[in-house]
Amino acid sequence: MSGYASLVNTPVGKRVATRLGLPRPARLRRYAVGEPLVDGPVLVGGHGAAPLLGEVRRVLTAAGSGVLDTLPAGEGLGAVVADLGAVEDPADLDSLRGLVGPALRSLRPSGRVVVLGRLPEAARAPAQAAARRALEGVTRSLGKELRQGATANLLLVADGAEDAIASPLRFLLSGRSAYVDGQVVTVTAAPGGPPPEPADWSLPLDGKVAVVTGAARGIGSAVARTLARDGATVVGVDIPASGDALARVANDVGGTALQLDVTAADAGKRIVAHAVSRHGGVDVVVHNAGITRDRLLANTDEERWRSVLDVNLMSILRMNEALLAEDGVRDGGHLVLLSSMAGIAGNRGQTSYAASKAGVIGLVRSLAADEDLRRRRVTTNAVAPGFIETEMTARMPFATREVGRLLNSLSQGGLPVDVAETIAWLAHDASAGVNGNVVRVCGQSLLGA
Ligand SMILES: NC(=O)c1ccc[n+]([C@@H]2O[C@H](COP(=O)([O-])OP(=O)(O)OC[C@H]3O[C@@H](n4cnc5c(N)ncnc54)[C@H](O)[C@@H]3O)[C@@H](O)[C@H]2O)c1
Repeated sequence: MSGYASLVNTPVGKRVATRLGLPRPARLRRYAVGEPLVDGPVLVGGHGAAPLLGEVRRVLTAAGSGVLDTLPAGEGLGAVVADLGAVEDPADLDSLRGLVGPALRSLRPSGRVVVLGRLPEAARAPAQAAARRALEGVTRSLGKELRQGATANLLLVADGAEDAIASPLRFLLSGRSAYVDGQVVTVTAAPGGPPPEPADWSLPLDGKVAVVTGAARGIGSAVARTLARDGATVVGVDIPASGDALARVANDVGGTALQLDVTAADAGKRIVAHAVSRHGGVDVVVHNAGITRDRLLANTDEERWRSVLDVNLMSILRMNEALLAEDGVRDGGHLVLLSSMAGIAGNRGQTSYAASKAGVIGLVRSLAADEDLRRRRVTTNAVAPGFIETEMTARMPFATREVGRLLNSLSQGGLPVDVAETIAWLAHDASAGVNGNVVRVCGQSLLGA
């Protein structure tokens, strides 16, 4: 927790913060191996036939969660799951209000609201499209109303993807999504049938080989640790100048280190060669290495502009030529790219950075739709962090930093592990129905959509 968050959670700090009307960030429930998926029973319901609830019940029961059909008197709820997949008309949305509204008082700290819906663009009639899209407005607003670390997210399920919801549903309910709030995740039918579920949900990456660029520190080192915890063998990549830190991370996770500048012309080939010779191949690539050279556009010279675009975007395009060749990432593999809130909302002084991170989104959308990659069941997604507590953000001026920390629905910055958990989720096979998504890990920052 930041200094501010720790202070306002002391007894005296709490009194002062309440009196001054300052936000009091809650301690977020974060995932720990062996803990229950949800902290308490889950109320389920929906509209009409609620066609997705059968699968929701199966997932919850398999996870050992209690499932309730009516609001219990005097008992706290871990989550509410509302299936609005059958809405035909905006009047049907009252089912959502009637189910979720009364349950909110019973929601425990770090509770979850997950709304399930269908794709608005696949609606049969204008009224149905309106009702489906309305779910986004409800969920995003609810994210802003919830307190004490609770979150609300919307899961849009494409026709035919009903058997692909287990992994996204589990993620959104769990402590792995602690800093994911007010988001819309889309799940589509995975080519080749239902995504396989892991034998052990605490080791979803068992037997997989994952490459993480920029792994020496910050978010990258958290990603390396989280993927290894989930069962992967990790290859950490970073520049030679960060060699010592990189070696420590690789040692800690029982993986290997590859000193390499990702902008080198042969970077992709060298990554594949290392992964194949040391570990037999590669299943997951996390393009995390990134830099900022912030200046107003009027003061940005060619060198600054070029270096940011080269590290954050062009190197990925070059590396992918080798990584996505037939002898690169294995069939059924997963690519996760780091975008940023700045790439969605824009940020003063960050035109070059925002160009690179918006470019990442364009790249992800294109790769996710690529016929050849779909045939090979390779998924591509982006994670867009908001304010995350790293060396990068620690260097910000005090006022800018506190504003960045507090201007979100959870009133605090996220931790590198929050980004890492989201990446780990997108990197395993049960998530094969999640493709072409940009998942913000931003506590529902007030910046951007
Ligand atoms: N920290 C945040 O709040 C935040 C927010 C949005 C997006 N991001 C993105 O997340 C990623 C990680 O950010 P971070 O905060 O951990 O940054 P960081 O500066 O702490 O770490 C970045 C790592 O990448 C490495 N790296 C830089 N250039 C490289 C190159 N040419 N070749 C190989 N390695 C290289 C660095 O040595 C470093 O270890 C970046 O892509 C960043 O843009 C971070």
